[in-house]
This record gives sequence, C-alpha cells and structure tokens, in this order.
Amino acid sequence: MTTPRVALAGATGSIGTQTLDVCRAEAGRYDLVALGASGRNIEPLIDAAREFGVKVVAVADTAAVAALEAALPACDIRGGRDALASLATEADVVVNGVVGFAGLDVTLATLRAGRRLALANKESLIAAGPVVRQAWRTPGAELVPVDSEHCALHQCLRANDNPSRVSRLVLTASGGPFRTHSAAQLAEVGIDEALAHPTWSMGPKITVDSSTLMNKGLEVIEAHELFGPGAPGGPGVPLDAVEVVVHPQSVIHSMVEYTDGSTIAQLSMPDMRLPIGYALAWPDRSAVASGRIDWSQLARLDFEPPDTTRFPCLALAYDAARTGGTAPAWLSAANEVAVEAFLAGRISWARIADVVAEVLDAHDGASADSVGDVYNADAQARRIATEVVDRSVGAGSSGRAS
Ligand SMILES: NC(=O)c1ccc[n+]([C@@H]2O[C@H](COP(=O)([O-])OP(=O)(O)OC[C@H]3O[C@@H](n4cnc5c(N)ncnc54)[C@H](OP(=O)(O)O)[C@@H]3O)[C@@H](O)[C@H]2O)c1
Repeated sequence: MTTPRVALAGATGSIGTQTLDVCRAEAGRYDLVALGASGRNIEPLIDAAREFGVKVVAVADTAAVAALEAALPACDIRGGRDALASLATEADVVVNGVVGFAGLDVTLATLRAGRRLALANKESLIAAGPVVRQAWRTPGAELVPVDSEHCALHQCLRANDNPSRVSRLVLTASGGPFRTHSAAQLAEVGIDEALAHPTWSMGPKITVDSSTLMNKGLEVIEAHELFGPGAPGGPGVPLDAVEVVVHPQSVIHSMVEYTDGSTIAQLSMPDMRLPIGYALAWPDRSAVASGRIDWSQLARLDFEPPDTTRFPCLALAYDAARTGGTAPAWLSAANEVAVEAFLAGRISWARIADVVAEVLDAHDGASADSVGDVYNADAQARRIATEVVDRSVGAGSSGRAS
C-alpha cells in the first residue's frame, strides 16, 4: 500500500495545527507534501514545512513569497489567488482548514481533481452547495467531513446499509459560553467572553459563531448538503428531519435515528484530532486515540432544546436553507462581515444576528447554479452587510472588549 500524500490548506490555524499533530502522532502513515495559508503568519508555516520536509508551500498573499523562498530554498513556493487551489493536484487527500468563503477554491479544486476532500471549511459547502455537489460527482472525488458533528453522522450512518431507513439526524450543540445568559446579559457580552468557549478550543470566527449558535445553523445547512436529498451517496434526509439539541458536555457529537426508533450516537472526548484523523484514515481508523472517555468521571449527559429567541441565528439559518438558491451564501457572507465587525469592536454581540437578518431581508432570490453566481452572491451580501454595519456604528452600537 502506498503512503497517502496529504496537502493541508489553512496549515497555521486551529484545524491546521491539529492536522500536523495527527500526522506527528501517526508518523510514517501520511506523507505531508504541501502546506497553504494566507501568508499573514509565515513563521509557523516555515517551521512546519521544515519539520515535515514538504515540497510545496502556497500563500494567498504574494507579498509573503520572497520571505518564504529565502527561508525554504528547496520548496516550490506559490503565491496568489489560485495558489492554495493548485495544491489539490499535489496530493491524494486535501485537508481544507481555511476559514470562511476564502476556502471555496480549495474545496472545488480538490473535488474536481478527483481527490479526497477532508472538509473543515464548512462555509464553502454552505455558500456553494449545488456547485460543490456537482464537483463531488467527479470520478474519484470523495468528501469526508471534518466538522465533528458531521464526522459523527458519517460514522453513525455506517450502522445501516439502507438509506431509506434513516428518519432523523440530530446535531448536538454545546450551547456556547452564553447558554444560560438572559436576554439582558446577552446585550452586554464582550469580545473576550465570546471567545471563551466552554468545551472546544478553536479559531476566533467559529468560536464567535458557536456563541451565537450561528455555527449550529451553518452546520444544519452543512448536514443538508452532505446528507440531504440529491447529495452523492447520501441518505437523502429532508431538511425538516435535521434537528438540533443542546448538549453542554460535548461528548455526544451527533446522532442518527432510524425508522425503528433506534438512535445511534457517536461519543468521544471533544478533540478535533479525532475527526481529522477519521477523514485522513477513512475507511480505516486512526491507530492513535485522541482522548478516551473516563466513564467513572462522566457523571451525566444533559440535553435541552435550543432557544431561538435568545439565539436567533439558528432560526435564520433554517430560513436560509429553506429558501435555498443563494440564500445560504448570503447568510454566511453577512455573518462573516458581522463577526469581523464584532471582533473589531465595531458592533455589539447582539447586533450580529440583526445584521444577518437585515441582509437576508434584502436577498434577491437568485439561484446558485455556477461558481459565478456564488461569487456574485457573496460580493453582494458583503456589500449590503458592510452598509448595515456602518449604519449600526453610526447609530452607536459598538462592542466591548470584555
Ligand atoms: N477549529 C476547530 O476546531 C473547527 C471545528 C470544526 C470546523 N472548523 C472549521 O474549520 C475552518 C478553519 O477554522 P479554524 O478554527 O482552524 O480557523 P483559524 O484558526 O482562524 O485558521 C484559519 C486558517 O485559514 C487561513 N486563511 C485565512 N484566510 C485565508 C485566505 N484568504 N487564504 C488562504 N488561507 C487563509 C489562515 O492562514 P493565516 O494564519 O496565514 O492567516 C489559517 O491557516 C473553519 O471553516 C471552521 O468553521 C473548525
């Protein structure tokens, strides 16, 4: 058996550095051949390139190319808009750990090259679902989710061969740091509080998304794209059968209910190295455990319904999924702009949902049949979201540092 060649896009981020951990833990099992990142943060990229002896390093920002060439003379250094997507043909498996819409080109290039996509970058699937599904039908292309909930569903779906026997997909949500906050408390939360996730350590954007429950909303759409009607090889579960339950311990990562009432759940410690290793090893498994459950310490598993009054982003995501077309792209783009504005201290946490809602109110009903449609939708939604944010700032809705 040959050693699978792995390319890692988003190598300097939370998913990226944990992918490096997985490759270290199973030394010799994977051949890490290429790394990619934005180019804003080159020291960790250089360190990882040297440690793993990678052949290619790609950065979106061409200004970083000269410094990388000087530090890594034996590497093929690529820069520019298409640089990360060019990694797809260098490897058998591409881990997409880029954050936000910027990950779309890597997702499409990997699937179109007929390679395995280990997908953490949920935003590309949400913004461009129909286009990604088209690319996914390329002979040889595989899509294995890295998001822990979808990795859990992927595992639970292996319990039965008849897709028509799946009745419900249940995504678990930790509830984030503000699960028990009142509406009055939510109006006052600051940036540091939103960045303090109770169970997961992740990059800033997804951590804020977890605090608003937008992350769970994005994951509902992600589950719909991966396992809904028309998804290649999936069980065709309708959107209304994709549910969310709050489970603060983050030990059950999601569940599949079958027509006989059996529910199959996947349990493990909250550690992203497990789903990353799963996507790399699939259909085999990692030989190394990423944490083990100590049943003597696991006193209880709690569940409660999500509250869409205090956390309206979850309902907004269901609405966008029902609308379809470019509505999910608008939702995701508006959210990226709003979260960035919150992290810059320009708007309050509570305004994030308002910005997304206002942008979705302006949605033009366009479809998402081509990459061009998706790029136009993203640009249009960002423009409107920026206007809404600027108006909010003018009206005095600023964020707090802590
Ligand atoms: N972190 C988790 O535990 C987790 C769990 C489930 C799903 N995810 C998903 O995985 C993705 C990554 O999340 P993260 O938490 O790892 O984010 P992160 O820590 O912020 O890392 C983001 C990575 O993307 C790169 N990047 C940013 N903008 C880019 C651009 N324009 N072109 C190329 N590369 C760019 C960054 O490079 P620089 O450092 O050079 O800027 C960095 O390597 C997100 O879609 C998130 O929703 C994450």
